[in-house]
Amino acid sequence: MAVTVKQLHPLFVGEIQNVDLSQPMDDAAFAEIQDAIDTNAVLIFHGPTLDEDAQATFAERFGPLYADNRLLKTGLKDRIGPKLVDISNLNENNEKMDRNDRRRMFGLANQLWHTDASFKKVTAKYSLLHAHTVVPEGGETQFADMRAAYDALPQKMKDRIEGMVAEHCIATSRAQLGFTEFSDAERAALPPVQHDLVRVHPVTGRKALYLASHASHIVGMPLPEGRMLIRDLMEHATQPQFVHTHTWQVGDLVIWDNRCTMHRARPYDLDAYRRDMRRATVMDPDYMEGAVQKTA
Ligand code: OGA
Ligand code: MN
Repeated sequence: MAVTVKQLHPLFVGEIQNVDLSQPMDDAAFAEIQDAIDTNAVLIFHGPTLDEDAQATFAERFGPLYADNRLLKTGLKDRIGPKLVDISNLNENNEKMDRNDRRRMFGLANQLWHTDASFKKVTAKYSLLHAHTVVPEGGETQFADMRAAYDALPQKMKDRIEGMVAEHCIATSRAQLGFTEFSDAERAALPPVQHDLVRVHPVTGRKALYLASHASHIVGMPLPEGRMLIRDLMEHATQPQFVHTHTWQVGDLVIWDNRCTMHRARPYDLDAYRRDMRRATVMDPDYMEGAVQKTA
C-alpha cells in the first residue's frame, strides 16, 4: 500500500496517516518515507506507543545512532535505556523532577530554538521523538524551515554569509538561561566545534541556514558582531511563516531533519504535569570519521 503524506504547512511538515510503526515495514514503504522526509523535512506519525527497541530499530534504518545519549554525567540511574535520549521531566524513580534538579534546569534549554547536536563534531541527521505521556496544555513542539528561511533572505545577505563558519557549544545555549553548572568532565567531553553557517542538503541540493541556540559566534568576526548576526538570522528564520506547531498525542512519533530545520519545546507546567518523550538521534554520515567535509 502506498504511503500517503498530507502536507500540514505550506512549506514543510508531512503527516503520515496510514503507517503503523509497530508493524514490519517493507523496503518500498521505507523508501517512500525517506522521500517524504527529504521533501517535508518534518514527518509526523500517529500510532501505538513503541518500546525502546522498536523505536531504536526503526531509527537505525536511517543510520547509526549516537552511542552516548547522556550529556550530563549525574552518576544517577537512568530512567530509560541507553539507546534513547530522555526528554521528560521525570527522574530515575519516574517522579516529576524538582525545580532545582540539574537535569530539569539543563533540559529547559530545549525551549530555545535549536538543532540537535550542532555542538558535536558529528552533528545529527535525524531526530525521532516519541510521545509516551503528553501534557494537557502547553508542551507543543515547534519547527522552523531553514531552507525556506534561507531562500527568503535578501541576495545581499546570502552573499555575505556564504562561506561563514559558526562556533557551537552546549555551554552557549545553557548559559542563555544562566545554567553554568557543568563539571570539568562534562565540559571536556563537549568542546566547542565549528560548522558552516549555510549547508547544502545532500539529497535535495537546497541550501539551509544552520543555526541553533548553541551557536556562539562567527569565526574570524568580532564576538559582538558575530553574535548579533546569529541573533538576527535566528529572528529571521523563526518568523511565523516559517514555523509549524505540533500538538502531541500519545503514540506520536515525529522525525525531523536537523540539517534543515530548527525546533523548540513550548513551555508547560513541569510541576503539575508529567511529560514523557524519548528521542532516537541518527548521526549525520557526512560528518562521521572519514567523510569528506562539505564546505560551502
Ligand atoms: C528534542 C527536543 C523538544 C520538545 O527532543 O530534541 O528539543 O518539545 N524536544 O520536547
Ligand atoms: Mn532538540
